[in-house]
Amino acid sequence: MSHRKAEHVKVVLGRDVEGRYRYWDDIQLIHSALPEVDFDEIDTSVSLLGHRLNAPIVITGMTGGFPDAVKINDNLARAAAEVGVAMGVGSERAAVLKGQYPESYSTVARHAVPLKFANIGAPQIIPQKAGDRVVGPAEVREAMDLIHADVLAIHLNFLQEMVQPEGDRRARGCLEQIGLLARVFPVLVKETGAGISHTVAESLRDRHVRAFDVSGTGGTSFAAVEHYRAVDQGAEREARVGKTFWNWGIPSPVSVLEVVPLGLPVIASGGVRSGLDVARALALGATAAGTAGGMLRAAATGFAETKTELETLVHELKVAMLLTGSRSIEELRRARYVVTGETRAWTRR
Ligand SMILES: Cc1cc2nc3c(=O)[nH]c(=O)nc-3n(C[C@H](O)[C@H](O)[C@H](O)COP(=O)(O)O)c2cc1C
Repeated sequence: MSHRKAEHVKVVLGRDVEGRYRYWDDIQLIHSALPEVDFDEIDTSVSLLGHRLNAPIVITGMTGGFPDAVKINDNLARAAAEVGVAMGVGSERAAVLKGQYPESYSTVARHAVPLKFANIGAPQIIPQKAGDRVVGPAEVREAMDLIHADVLAIHLNFLQEMVQPEGDRRARGCLEQIGLLARVFPVLVKETGAGISHTVAESLRDRHVRAFDVSGTGGTSFAAVEHYRAVDQGAEREARVGKTFWNWGIPSPVSVLEVVPLGLPVIASGGVRSGLDVARALALGATAAGTAGGMLRAAATGFAETKTELETLVHELKVAMLLTGSRSIEELRRARYVVTGETRAWTRR
């Protein structure tokens, strides 16, 4: 498990695993030639799940569970604390079920990150085979305590499981288990690059889930990540499945438009690579935007690079706010936009 986590980081850093199409570029904000706003008066702060952030940005869960992950998560957490944005960690299964490298997660607790997400995968909350130990309320409590988390993120990654040679093949019963956990813990449900539809979000809302991170198609493709791992393992069938399903899923902006009408906080992620993408996500009605792959290279390099990347995202967001005449996030959420390209076809289906 620890080896697999290290491989994911290595593949994302070393290979091209981005989706084929940049759906965020299809969301075109309308330029205001006369903004009547001073750059210095722009307020990017926002409240997300009861926590105040300096900017509507979440570093979504990526890693933990192997030695090099200590540095990555520490760089991310320190930068998130200093810039005032939210962050999540990668799946904590290895730490809570096998005791693997808990320090790669707990380092996050040392920093005053304004909102932290613990992370567990949906396939691990149901038994995959007879006698399996599942992640239940006791393990979730442990996962949350490890990073002093405010919210539990349960991730849906069935596309990834289908491409992984060693992937989990059972999905039945996850919805009910999510409902049970959501009665005990504040739960956000996130995808991992294939998006969440209105129908799925509705069934989760009815089971007490409090927020969504859509993590749609167009950014890091986990089919691509697992394709490369399958090639390296000589798993020919999975390597082919990874190629076939490389771009599978609901485009991130479309998923935001699907889920926002439910009235719960939505984190827009999947391919968010600039502060302009953050602005586009908010104009669609998201409460915040999330980014993972776009932060990994900086986090693997050093703290200064990580902080600079975050500050640049915030700066670009402010530029987009000025150019749309938005003084606050509330005003940005009312900014006008046009949907073009493939995303337009999706929204008209
Ligand atoms: C190296 C790496 C590892 C990841 N591991 C997890 C994980 O353990 N749990 C999770 O919920 N999401 C995980 N993700 C998914 C991200 O949180 C995010 O949903 C996805 O990468 C899409 O965002 P992006 O296009 O900005 O990368 C991982 C992403 C990356 C790049």
